Amino acid sequence: MKRIVTLPGDGIGPEITASALKVLEAASQHVDFKFEVEEHTIGGAAIDQDGHPFPDATKKACQAADAILLGAVGGPKWEQAERTPEAGLLEMRQTLELFANLRPVEMHDYLLKDSPLKEEIVKGTDFVMVRELTGGIYFGRPKYFDEEEAVDTLHYNRGEIERIVRLAFDLAKTRKNKVTLVDKANVLASSQLWRKVATQIAQEEYPEVEFEWMYVDNAAMQIITNPTAYDVIVTENMFGDILSDEASVITGSLGMLPSASLSQTNASLYEPIHGSAPDIAGKDIANPMSMILSVTMMLRQSFEEFEMADRIEHACAAVMDRGMRTADLGGDTSHSTFTRAVIDEINKGASS
Ligand SMILES: NC(=O)c1ccc[n+]([C@@H]2O[C@H](COP(=O)([O-])OP(=O)(O)OC[C@H]3O[C@@H](n4cnc5c(N)ncnc54)[C@H](O)[C@@H]3O)[C@@H](O)[C@H]2O)c1
Repeated sequence: MKRIVTLPGDGIGPEITASALKVLEAASQHVDFKFEVEEHTIGGAAIDQDGHPFPDATKKACQAADAILLGAVGGPKWEQAERTPEAGLLEMRQTLELFANLRPVEMHDYLLKDSPLKEEIVKGTDFVMVRELTGGIYFGRPKYFDEEEAVDTLHYNRGEIERIVRLAFDLAKTRKNKVTLVDKANVLASSQLWRKVATQIAQEEYPEVEFEWMYVDNAAMQIITNPTAYDVIVTENMFGDILSDEASVITGSLGMLPSASLSQTNASLYEPIHGSAPDIAGKDIANPMSMILSVTMMLRQSFEEFEMADRIEHACAAVMDRGMRTADLGGDTSHSTFTRAVIDEINKGASS
């Protein structure tokens, strides 16, 4: 029996988490996969209920889980909170040592017409952004601001860089054998260390893998104008955060992209790359795909349930092929109708 801890969080988080669990439940009916779900609070919901955005009970449950599914956190209600929902998210990443965030950007044929970019540019796009998740400017100290001055600190040590760069190279060996490091080594000291360490690892440990580096400003342009040129892109925390949101434009919507966060000491966590989308929360219009695809990443990465993951993805593709689209992709299919259609496809696939 696998123990899945769910952290629905805020905004559209609870809706898309419930939707993804229904899809998982439907897919599990057709195979021998047994799981139990334990729901806990995080973010604003946890502030309201427990007085802390990453409560102890949530921490303990995550530490005992086989996999964790997170919706999203944050919203205007908690912007002035002493401890914000986002601070809880960062604390969770650090506590669970979720150092590697994998964000696949894959252009399925059914999405070709949804991309605002030209079909000949995006067709065939298939890369993974490997974002360092527990270091860099989001965590560095000192960090403060007052009326006259503000300070953030961008810090990395060799060990933090080595483990994520090796993970990127190992991943590339299972894919198209190419790693692109994105940095700003012409200006930032931390990037100089990234460049030095990554180049050493490339030459000494992975000579068979193609390696290149790019400045982040150039990468911001190249990812959009030439997305098929990439296989594995490895980068530090903030660059990865920004570039992966930008990369979502390729597939037409933030609501399409899942992610996996890996740890060497705890269970992996799966979540959409987007936030809590408070502007559309509770309206039954959110795109559930980012969360459903996060579940397929969980099935493959944490449980090696490849058949189930394939079954869910085929069902999603069939629904998209029929032209069903949520509002973010210009359609009028509601969140609940889309989810129902995916479940019907799963059941149809199983009985045919
Ligand atoms: N991992 C996380 O939990 C996470 C990540 C980013 C931002 N946030 C938080 O989320 C809150 C909102 O931030 P934001 O508005 O800048 O970013 P956001 O990603 O929540 O939303 C950006 C835009 O994309 C749309 N969108 C996002 N997901 C969608 C989906 N599944 N279907 C349809 N449309 C979708 C939203 O409606 C919005 O217009 C903030 O409090 C922010 O701090 C949380």
